[in-house]
Amino acid sequence: MTAKIIDGKAISEVFRAEYKVRVDRLIERGVKPGLAVIIVGDDAASQVYVRNKARACEAIGMHSEVHALPADTSQEDLLTWVNNLNANSAIHGILVQLPLPKHMDDRAVIEAIYPMKDVDGFHYANMGALVIDESWFPPCTPFGVMQMLAHEGVEIEGKHAVVIGRSNIVGKPQAMLLLKAGATVTVCHSKTKDLKKFTRDADILVAAIGCANMVTGDMVKPGAVVIDVGINRLPTGKLCGDVDFESAKLVAAAITPVPGGVGPMTITMLLGNTLRAAERAAGMAKSAGFTMMA
Ligand code: GUN
Repeated sequence: MTAKIIDGKAISEVFRAEYKVRVDRLIERGVKPGLAVIIVGDDAASQVYVRNKARACEAIGMHSEVHALPADTSQEDLLTWVNNLNANSAIHGILVQLPLPKHMDDRAVIEAIYPMKDVDGFHYANMGALVIDESWFPPCTPFGVMQMLAHEGVEIEGKHAVVIGRSNIVGKPQAMLLLKAGATVTVCHSKTKDLKKFTRDADILVAAIGCANMVTGDMVKPGAVVIDVGINRLPTGKLCGDVDFESAKLVAAAITPVPGGVGPMTITMLLGNTLRAAERAAGMAKSAGFTMMA
């Protein structure tokens, strides 16, 4: 058996086409959805991510602005930027690219973002709302994973989902979203003993560890759906995920590639969250919560 490849780029296109229609509708009403991204310092990978986010916004007709600040920017100055963007009615979503330089307090910066502009969904208010199922802005990567599973018709209710990784950005919110969808969820991490015992029992396996090719085919349950959140750069310069694609695809029923799997969906969900923020600001939002909205 060789697994079906889940094409995140193609799924993204479906969402982005629908978003474009919604952006046009907002523009007709005089509201252009706007995303502001702040990047501090010159981390090369972050610069690429930020550029891709800005391009994706512009491609569907949204306003985007990138504020690139020097690495020695003070925390106070960064907070002033955030406060000014909070007060700017042309900006519906604010994203501060992480990681920030070491002299900054990431949490204090995230908490300064107005929760209704926190399109990353990292603010305490949005994280807390996620836990009780009502977040406006589910964090983009785990939300993208859920949308991919839905698009592929993967049944989640009653299944055993195993998440490897417990980060605030991916692992924890991913577990919450899978739980909400009715899975029995196990979260594994760097201190988990006998990781394979858990992964071999996963109907849905989400790898978000940040360790190249760590999940090998012998760790995958035959017929499982494998989602690879990792983006690692090998010494050769080649990108690879946390899953050893070649061995895992021989065992899994479906698998996401790297690149071209979860990555494009993360940016797509950022567009969706920003659009929803703009619709809400324009009084056009359908309802609270995200259940039926992507
Ligand atoms: N750095 C890596 N992933 C992310 C993300 O999803 N949001 C932000 N703000 N920074 C990141």
